[in-house]
Amino acid sequence: MQNKSIKQYLEYLHLSGIQDVFIKPKPKINKSELLKTLEEKYNNCSACALHKGRNKFCYGNGNADAKLLIIGEAPGADEDRKGEVFVGRSGQLLTKMLQAINLSRDEVYITNIVKCRPPENRNPNPDEKRSCLPYLEEQISIIQPELILMLGKVAAETLLGVQQTLTVFRQKTHIYKGLKTFVSYHPSALLRNPNWKKFAWIDLQNLQKEYRKN
Ligand code: URA
Repeated sequence: MQNKSIKQYLEYLHLSGIQDVFIKPKPKINKSELLKTLEEKYNNCSACALHKGRNKFCYGNGNADAKLLIIGEAPGADEDRKGEVFVGRSGQLLTKMLQAINLSRDEVYITNIVKCRPPENRNPNPDEKRSCLPYLEEQISIIQPELILMLGKVAAETLLGVQQTLTVFRQKTHIYKGLKTFVSYHPSALLRNPNWKKFAWIDLQNLQKEYRKN
């Protein structure tokens, strides 16, 4: 019911002699509990072929009430072993990148496009991405972040639905599911090409400005 019609309805009740109205508060969901329950439910997922080679399903980690959601590509070997996202070398760099803009990993929520490790760390294929996307969409609808950071071309192309170079993706902010979305380098690309870190730093500063605005 719209605010105006609620007001009219209350006025009508008042004129009819009803003085007190008790409104049942909407139950506040515990996002963290909900994500934990869902993670347990999905742990044995076999929706695509990736489940055959996985050790652990890597759902996502971090703050369920995060303002910023970070989306990578797929778990690597360390993540597959631990069942946690971004815990290997690229995860360590991601932690440092966040620290550089005064964010800790406890403040943000981090996940990937696909939740199981592709063999030899190859890019996830369209079928794998399609099967896994509902998990990410559900995570977004639960967390309701204000901002998204997509790491790398695979994440950006998959979610924004256009094929572009990373340089073009980085040039502007995008809207994904109504949310302001930044695209920057995947940390593993920065490990391979440290000279790109200066460009990543520009992206991080833009993100920080927006993060502090809200
Ligand atoms: N690379 C990713 O995209 N995600 C991880 O979790 C680890 C490495």
